[in-house]
Amino acid sequence: MAKTIGIVTSGGDAPGMNAAIRAVTRVGHSMGFQVIGFERGWDGLLTNTFKKLIPRSVGGIIQLGGTMLHTLRCPAFEQAGGVETGAETLRLNNVDALVVIGGDGSFRGALELGKKTDALMVGIPATIDNDVYGSDETIGFDTAVNTAVGIIDKIRDTAISHERIFIVEVMGRKRGFLALEVGMCVGAEVILVPENPLELAEIVNIMDDNSKKGKRAGIIVAAEGFGDSSKLAQEMQRQTESEVRLSILGYAQRGGSPTARSRLLASLFAERAVELVCEGKGSMAVGLQKGAITSIELEKAAKNKKPLDLRLLKVAEMLSI
Ligand code: F6P
Repeated sequence: MAKTIGIVTSGGDAPGMNAAIRAVTRVGHSMGFQVIGFERGWDGLLTNTFKKLIPRSVGGIIQLGGTMLHTLRCPAFEQAGGVETGAETLRLNNVDALVVIGGDGSFRGALELGKKTDALMVGIPATIDNDVYGSDETIGFDTAVNTAVGIIDKIRDTAISHERIFIVEVMGRKRGFLALEVGMCVGAEVILVPENPLELAEIVNIMDDNSKKGKRAGIIVAAEGFGDSSKLAQEMQRQTESEVRLSILGYAQRGGSPTARSRLLASLFAERAVELVCEGKGSMAVGLQKGAITSIELEKAAKNKKPLDLRLLKVAEMLSI
């Protein structure tokens, strides 16, 4: 009987998850595996809900955002008996390997599940936050950066017309990867990330100096993890001469058609993941390091904190004078 690979997409969706599902399915089939996709994240393993995936059932999805398997934040999986039920579902369906497509939270789930099953666990990093250790980039990050940049370019037009300061909040959970890259690409006057706490007075000083230099409009890109953007906007309005507006980009950053780069990364990560399964190597996560597709232990990817290159903030500062 053919061996079986299971796929699960878990946590927040990311553009390119569908491309990864497609690639795992097709590479898996090419290598002689049956493939099934568990639905609604870990909940699919708790309820034994899945669909059989064949090369034809993943046609026409490479360009679609979201995940055709749906996803869920699933606290029940972390509760007593959760991973045991998941392991039993894998056993019932003779799943030999589970490919987990998601962020570090999903990887932690896979790590716990791996302790209760013989099925191989392989992680594929997919999150717009780009905060998974062991991979320079995650599936969906490039798309989210481009989406945010497109919107902020439009905001810049109105900022210039009205000579206003805009604080634009981007996602990223507790990390500043998205804000840093978006901020650099829109030429933000200030980039606020949790990894580099700036005092209000410093932000006000930068904007006041800009105003004295004749730069009366400005964009401040703030990571959601930096703090309360609405309070910041109010204080900036009080303490500067400028009109200040806040724009929270929100969930638009998570949707949309994946960029070519997100699709390519998804396809290459998936191919490597299936290769690991063929080699019998479980408890691993694939990743991108210095331009090469690599893999590291799942535990390392799940438990370590990926560093943010704070030097880039200095570069952004020089670029925005
Ligand atoms: O992890 C992706 C992400 O979009 C974060 O940037 C954000 O903080 C979080 O998910 C939002 O989570 P939820 O979809 O549960 O509201």
